[in-house]
Amino acid sequence: MKKIIILLLALSASSMSIAAGDSFVNEKAHNNIRSTDSLRRGAKTYMNYCMGCHSMNFQRYNRVAKDLDLTEDEMMESLVLTDAKFVDKMEIAMTEEQGNKWFGKAGPDLTVIAKARGVDWLFSYLVNFYQDEKQANGWNNLTLPNAAMPHILWEMQGIQKANFVVETDKDGNEHEVFKNFDQIAEGSMSQEEYRDTVRDLVNFLDYSSEPAKLIRMSYAPWVLLFVSIFTFLAYMLKVNYFRDVH
Ligand code: HEC
Repeated sequence: MKKIIILLLALSASSMSIAAGDSFVNEKAHNNIRSTDSLRRGAKTYMNYCMGCHSMNFQRYNRVAKDLDLTEDEMMESLVLTDAKFVDKMEIAMTEEQGNKWFGKAGPDLTVIAKARGVDWLFSYLVNFYQDEKQANGWNNLTLPNAAMPHILWEMQGIQKANFVVETDKDGNEHEVFKNFDQIAEGSMSQEEYRDTVRDLVNFLDYSSEPAKLIRMSYAPWVLLFVSIFTFLAYMLKVNYFRDVH
């Protein structure tokens, strides 16, 4: 037993240290997967800005249409921007070799990225791009340092620069620590509008990583209702059985 407890403690400590040391997650997504409007807006941003480089190979257009309450015509007119068919998988034309050649690294498939990274990570990633002349593509990212992906949504967010301060830790090693951003060019959106757009986009990625979650959540109130009725009946039964027990 003792060994098991030590093992569990060690495991949780190691996963905690990975989470703390690995990436810089400073904002929360606060997305709402039950909002169909938000999912539709997120899907639109995804199709317009992300699908050039990121496939969603485990998702099909007709499934998205069904889950987002869109007819085939609505889906094909507003969300499918290529010559893909309604029943097709959300694949992209760019091959991995082309991605490696053009960006140094291919953009990964994003169907289940919300499961792999978590929604807060994704949200932070999409708000934490900053201009950095030292990078080949001119951009860097606090959450995924030296990311090969440029800031695709910069026209909405505008351009920010990051300030760092040098701090010395207790072992005498110097580290650059992020202090704040300076906004050096305004975007087409305010910071709140930009965050709402990113929230919708992350919401769509969250949905996509587990479409069944929508169905599961719609069952939840019925399950709770059943459990409460059942508890009530069980209680009544108990009262009845114990009536003669003195
Ligand atoms: C011009 C091509 C391109 C476009 C367009 C693009 N990305 Fe990327 N993306 C990349 C590349 C390349 C990487 C790999 C970055 C790396 O690992 O250094 C990447 C990485 C990512 C990652 C990190 C994956 C991981 O876990 O490491 C996420 C999340 C992501 N992109 C989301 C998006 C979203 C959302 C959009 C639309 C707003 C988008 N990308 C548009 C090229 C692109």
